[in-house]
Amino acid sequence: MADKPTKGLADVVAASTALSDIDGKAGRLFYRGYDIHDLAGRTTFEETAHLLQHGSLPSRDQLAAYGAELVRGRALGGLVASNIPEIAAKQEPMEALRTLVSLAGADDPDKDSNAADANLRKAARLTAQQPLLVALYHAARTGATIPDPDPELSIAANFLLQITGRTPSQREVEIFDTCLVLHADHTMNASTFAARVCAATLSDMHSAIVAAIGTLKGPLHGGANEQVMRTLEAIDPSGVAQTVRDKLAAGEKIMGFGHRVYKTEDPRATHLRKMSRELGEASGDDTYYRMSKEMEEVVFAEKGLYPNVDFYAATVYHYLGIPTDLFTPVFSVSRMSGWTAHVIEQHADNRLIRPDSEYIGERDQKWKPIDER
Ligand code: ACO
Repeated sequence: MADKPTKGLADVVAASTALSDIDGKAGRLFYRGYDIHDLAGRTTFEETAHLLQHGSLPSRDQLAAYGAELVRGRALGGLVASNIPEIAAKQEPMEALRTLVSLAGADDPDKDSNAADANLRKAARLTAQQPLLVALYHAARTGATIPDPDPELSIAANFLLQITGRTPSQREVEIFDTCLVLHADHTMNASTFAARVCAATLSDMHSAIVAAIGTLKGPLHGGANEQVMRTLEAIDPSGVAQTVRDKLAAGEKIMGFGHRVYKTEDPRATHLRKMSRELGEASGDDTYYRMSKEMEEVVFAEKGLYPNVDFYAATVYHYLGIPTDLFTPVFSVSRMSGWTAHVIEQHADNRLIRPDSEYIGERDQKWKPIDER
């Protein structure tokens, strides 16, 4: 008979990884041994994706080569490109991305190979295409025409330009780029685990990423950032404390708070809080930042819970002009770098992931013919 399960697999070590590491008690996060506090604001998203997928922070030459690969990799296949308008009309953003990445897999020249070199090429294409898919989806549903990505601009700059329709300031680009760095990888989170389970059957990278996108979509995971903004928008600024207390009294969870691993402040939230404050003040109306700060204080006083990555990301994206229902897609733009790196790692040293279960159903049932049931 199987052992008692740990509900939600808490504290179960499900894989070995050299990609990221969390010290939940100290509130520290590392990508391949680099402290997130050293990377955030100093390393670009492209450098971070290279670190995760290729194993090292790139030299200038390596970064130029990787950047060129990302630019080439943005070219979408005909199947995905031709279906964007209909998908944008029928599917919500995360549903659409799940479908679009699946379609993109059909046109990928390496789709039939899980070899290390093919996986690296697919990882670059997926990382390059994800922001474009979000932008093309948004353009299709709003009827906007967006500029082609500028090969001279970063992923962060191109994305903000395509989504908001205006040239972002240098500081806005830096802040958004830092957001992408902060969300790039996070050990065995639910969507990464889903990707690894899929990859461990020796299924292909696009299938694993589709599993990850479907998992990130849920409000207990990546979907929380959108819910944070919806909560802020629904609350009267003078009634933050009371609303939070009422929700807690009703047994509701406050989105953007709590974490399975961190027992103290999530180090990503430290950066996001500062950026939210900066953007709020620069916008001339920092109401949502101030409401967030008050909410943080009340939730801590009432429940001892800290904000997670999704809490201040919500107001940062809002101040950057990103539509609220694209917040979780933005998360996927960044996390694509980590998901793909995990698929590469899983395929490089694979064993099927197949845990056991504890049976809690009926036993010794007596079968009866259908007319006697
Ligand atoms: N608001 C109110 N209470 C909470 C919250 C919250 N946000 N989070 C946890 N709690 C409470 C639970 O009600 C529970 O209380 P109880 O022991 O009295 O029943 C206790 O804290 C433990 O909570 P669990 O849900 O069992 O913790 P778990 O580790 O399973 O869940 C999770 C972690 C999913 C992040 C949870 O904190 C949550 O639902 N938060 C809100 C959603 C959210 O922000 N998700 C994003 C997480 S970050 C990310 O995925 C990128």
